[in-house]
Amino acid sequence: MGASDCIYCTCVQLPCHSYFALANGGRTPNVPALFRGLFKAFIPQASPTNAITVACMTVKKKWTVVPAFLALAAAATLLSAYSGASSSQGLRVEQPIKFVHAPHMQKAGMNCLYCHNTANNAPDPGMPAVSTCVGCHNGQILPGKPEIKKLAEYAKNGLPIPWNRVHKVPDYVHFPHMRHVNVGVTCQSCHGEIQNQGPAPDSANYLPVMQAQSLNMGWCVRCHVNGYQPAEGARLAGQKVTPELEAMPAKKARYDCSSCHY
Ligand code: HEC
Ligand code: HEC
Ligand code: HEC
Ligand code: HEC
Ligand code: HEC
Repeated sequence: MGASDCIYCTCVQLPCHSYFALANGGRTPNVPALFRGLFKAFIPQASPTNAITVACMTVKKKWTVVPAFLALAAAATLLSAYSGASSSQGLRVEQPIKFVHAPHMQKAGMNCLYCHNTANNAPDPGMPAVSTCVGCHNGQILPGKPEIKKLAEYAKNGLPIPWNRVHKVPDYVHFPHMRHVNVGVTCQSCHGEIQNQGPAPDSANYLPVMQAQSLNMGWCVRCHVNGYQPAEGARLAGQKVTPELEAMPAKKARYDCSSCHY
């Protein structure tokens, strides 16, 4: 593999990149536990949490380990191909209340930040408090519906709604929402057309929120390298795609290991 083949970072001569290039091929490395164990034994400084970032630096000084490392990498690639990529794309999770996004966008005209109100100033977008819901659902809007009755019950008892998490990256990955939201990457670029989620809860066609993207490393890095397309993001968000948007250059981002792993 030549220096220019590696899209991940500038320390191209490192064997860990051979692993990624081999394993990736546009797809995420799904490092099997066995490989991680061997990796750790092989390069003691590397922990599964700071993963290969540390190892990269260490390996630089240990050229003797390269051939063995490459053999390991090849084995790991086969293993990971065999076990299949672990991706939660398409995941849907049952919720304590069958919430629907569509009427809130389409009938109430709400903005995503009304409920996920830290998405533009914190790593975590935040979830709405019951009091946010009750601001509207205070007996006027569909009070007889079963899901609204459940909501009223939580409010009456002063309990938070125990929403189940859908989207999750591993703890060793750093994902800051605000960095994306503040450069104009639309929520829908990563979460799909969520404004259309939801035939009514009592419909036979009701479906919970779906994880639209794999959220794996290959997916993140591809956008950082190729750049975010503002027109495409606007189209997914149901916004008007103006000629100005079409003409905007793709927004690229850092893709060195330490931007996402530290
Ligand atoms: C009325 C408040 C409200 C608004 C407005 C709202 N959401 Fe949500 N959102 C919720 C609630 C409540 C949940 C948790 C229940 C569920 O998953 O259906 C949720 C869940 C989600 C999830 C899944 C969270 C997870 O666990 O991974 C995503 C992604 C999301 N919303 C994105 C958006 C986007 C994008 C918009 C704007 C188009 C938006 N939301 C507007 C209330 C809201
Ligand atoms: C800005 C006002 C507003 C807020 C805040 C709001 N809703 Fe709604 N909600 C609506 C409107 C409007 C509808 C659609 C009513 C209709 O279809 O006639 C709706 C519909 C619903 C439905 C569908 C009910 C059914 O059976 O069709 C559910 C469930 C729901 N809301 C739950 C919530 C929850 C949970 C929250 C807080 C996370 C919340 N809402 C916050 C205005 C709001
Ligand atoms: C660049 C991709 C990207 C964009 C843009 C994005 N998200 Fe996310 N979102 C993610 C990822 C990745 C996760 C999982 C993060 C984690 O596990 O720390 C996530 C998680 C969430 C969750 C669940 C968080 C929780 O604590 O339960 C919600 C809600 C959410 N996003 C809403 C939004 C909203 C609203 C917007 C727009 C204002 C948005 N996201 C923009 C990628 C994105
Ligand atoms: C749809 C395109 C897109 C996707 C997908 C995406 N990002 Fe980004 N990301 C961006 C853009 C654009 C920026 C640049 C922000 C800036 O210039 O300030 C960025 C910035 C970042 C930053 C801040 C980098 C810095 O300069 O310090 C981190 C960290 C990050 N992204 C992590 C992730 C992770 C982790 C994922 C996958 C779970 C991901 N991103 C998926 C477009 C994307
Ligand atoms: C734009 C963000 C981003 C960048 C840059 C990035 N990663 Fe990742 N990485 C992720 C995400 C998200 C995951 C978790 C999902 C997955 O396994 O694909 C991950 C997973 C991994 C894993 C899997 C760990 C395990 O236990 O399975 C390793 C190892 C790893 N990254 C190493 C690296 C190395 C080495 C680099 C630099 C060459 C790098 N990453 C650059 C986002 C990134």
